[in-house]
Amino acid sequence: MSASIPALPDLLARRRSGYSLEQPFYTSQEIYEADLENIYYRDWLYAFPACQLTRTGSYVTMKVGAYSVIIVRGRDGEIRAFHNACRHRGSLVCKSREGQVAKLVCPYHQWTYELDGKLIWANDMGADFDATRWGLKPVHLRDVEGLLYISLAENPDDFAPFARDAAPYLAVHDLRDAKVAYTTTTVEKGNWKLVWENNRECYHCASNHPALSQSFSSDPEVAGASADGSISPKLQGHFDRCAAAGAPSQWLMSADGQYRLARMPLEGKFLSYTKDGVPAAARKPLGRVALADAGSLLKFHYPSTWNHFLPDHSITFRVMPLSATETELTTTWLVHKDAVEGVDYDLKHLTEVWIETNDEDRVIVEATQEGIASPAYSPGPYSPVQESGVTQFVDWYANSLDHLVAPLRVAAE
Ligand code: FES
Ligand code: FE
Repeated sequence: MSASIPALPDLLARRRSGYSLEQPFYTSQEIYEADLENIYYRDWLYAFPACQLTRTGSYVTMKVGAYSVIIVRGRDGEIRAFHNACRHRGSLVCKSREGQVAKLVCPYHQWTYELDGKLIWANDMGADFDATRWGLKPVHLRDVEGLLYISLAENPDDFAPFARDAAPYLAVHDLRDAKVAYTTTTVEKGNWKLVWENNRECYHCASNHPALSQSFSSDPEVAGASADGSISPKLQGHFDRCAAAGAPSQWLMSADGQYRLARMPLEGKFLSYTKDGVPAAARKPLGRVALADAGSLLKFHYPSTWNHFLPDHSITFRVMPLSATETELTTTWLVHKDAVEGVDYDLKHLTEVWIETNDEDRVIVEATQEGIASPAYSPGPYSPVQESGVTQFVDWYANSLDHLVAPLRVAAE
């Protein structure tokens, strides 16, 4: 770290909760790498909806920092994840973002792997070569109700508590019966934490999201969290009504603040994130949420995903840092697998609000990144009324790195 930038533990130790972070958190290469090491390379990350891998040999790839990962459906129907690095001399095995293969064949010297990662063919490697030692390296993968998560950690945290909490909320959305209607990938020229900070409040919505503001509630309790953690009687009434209709909805936040689930009402008469408020895919809905006005099950799971599960369709968002100042956002619209485009849903009607919203958010994030890059920038206060969700995210982030500060505290005693 250059002499003019304080070390990360010092920056963390002097951070003020309720304020935006100091400039290096959004700009420095060292802190970007610390974020990868301590968060993205350790935590469970949302990867893809399982329905994207429809057949034996369907695969997708994703980059997480320096890693490349293949996720593939095997002959036994199991979905597995592997490091996308050939065990011969390291080439990427799958170079495309997605595809369909009979075997995983390295393009360099054609080492050939079964879909379960075993090496089954390697030419002229000599009599002593033991192929069983050279299978693709596995990556931890879990499927919670049709949502695939991976972890690059050698010994990841226990996934079970999250799966146990999330499964009852997700089950009614039948994500295993989904298909991908549309997906977009945008690169925002901003640090990944700015993407999250922006996501965790709707203080900016009225002035920046003309389409989304029609349906997405501007009530801070809906967008973020009530400042004191309480739930208003009105919101509790909504949760109870949805639960009575078979759709678990109660606000649930993990003890460490990494994930939250809650089914939130939409504005007024709006039933979906469409411009006219009419559900986009109600003719063949995805899921069994019987209440048309159940609103949206909001799920976030730091650091990689926020989601909207509606009575007729679902949308997943994946946040992946590309550099200190660039973040990739992948948005995927899911509809029932039997729903036919142009018959059961209109693609523009389904996607336009969030396509516009994503772009509006990209502009916001990029302007913020540019402003923060100025030497004149210093941390500013979050609104206690409107931005408690941002405080919650930034506190979670800082706590994730707290072990870097703790040894200093011990040493100082
Ligand atoms: Fe893959 Fe040689 S690097 S076969
Ligand atoms: Fe926004």
